[in-house]
Amino acid sequence: MSKSITIVMPDDMHLHLRHSDMLDFVLRDTVKQFARAIIMPNLSVPIINTKLAVAYRDSILNSLGKIRGDLRCFEPLMTLYLTDTTTTDEILMAKESGVVFAVKLYPNSATTNSHAGVVDLFKNCSKVLDTLQRIKMPLLIHAEVSDHRVDIFDRESVYIDKVIIPLREKFPELKIVIEHVSTKEGVDYVYSSPEYTAATITPQHMLYNRNIIFSGGLRPHYYCLPILKSELHREYLVKAATSGDKRFFLGTDSAPHDVKSKENNCGCAGCYSSYNAISLYMKIFEDVGCISNLEKFASFHGADFYNLPRNKQTLTIYRNENIVPDKISFKNLNIVPLAYGETLQWSI
Ligand code: DOR
Ligand code: ZN
Repeated sequence: MSKSITIVMPDDMHLHLRHSDMLDFVLRDTVKQFARAIIMPNLSVPIINTKLAVAYRDSILNSLGKIRGDLRCFEPLMTLYLTDTTTTDEILMAKESGVVFAVKLYPNSATTNSHAGVVDLFKNCSKVLDTLQRIKMPLLIHAEVSDHRVDIFDRESVYIDKVIIPLREKFPELKIVIEHVSTKEGVDYVYSSPEYTAATITPQHMLYNRNIIFSGGLRPHYYCLPILKSELHREYLVKAATSGDKRFFLGTDSAPHDVKSKENNCGCAGCYSSYNAISLYMKIFEDVGCISNLEKFASFHGADFYNLPRNKQTLTIYRNENIVPDKISFKNLNIVPLAYGETLQWSI
């Protein structure tokens, strides 16, 4: 049994850094494990243009300066929040800035801070989609219909049929990432599609099935969107992630909310995994005997899809039994990390 493994430093291709104290908190955990991260734009004031993206990036770098004197240890890869009124000029400006790497599509009202999300993609965003295809900038999709008449467990598969398939027909070379893919249907779509489609996979969707949300009582810290699915889907995701297929890569969707907002009569969606993301992914890969594919999933496939150079630094992960704390506190914040109370075998 090996005592440690060293891999090229991973990237988190889907991260919610938030702002203010929460930003300091999440960044502190992130930089220990990741050299870069794709930063989600769904702040309460969404990052809908390049000016806001540049200002948000500055605040991340400012926070980084407080944590680590050396700003080169981490690079935030900014994204723009797509709306029904985003213009092609805005997209071109974003590309020109050199700091925006993708555009995020939230269907209106599908999840946290998606109130400004897209109402009618094909009617309102065709020119933007055409531009994204032309400049090879990825479109990152929260692939769930927001029609609340559709069963919550079916919202991803319905979205694939209703939106992704027609989108791909209209824009055959558009780079698409199905974010936090959570179903067999989503994975099968990626398998069936050309080189321009990929998917990120979170730790929670591979560690747990939906039973955990209701095990012995209602457990809000396992509530995220897309919601956890049944065991069949979980196993299918693990197989895709650990197979070495280049279309699947690491994206934690680490989405912290203070305990007061989670343990609430209308609790927020999101699991916080930045605290120990790599240890969690290690567990998933070790349980199926595929540790040798972790580096591809965590450090190569994402960078390759985004046409970024692979990282030069390395990360060593040690076999070291550790218990995940029930709560982490920072200033006035209290966060319950994913896998709280569980014993993990690896740490960094
Ligand atoms: O669980 C989630 N939390 N899913 C999302 O899509 C958004 C995220 C958040 O920002 O809290
Ligand atoms: Zn997310």
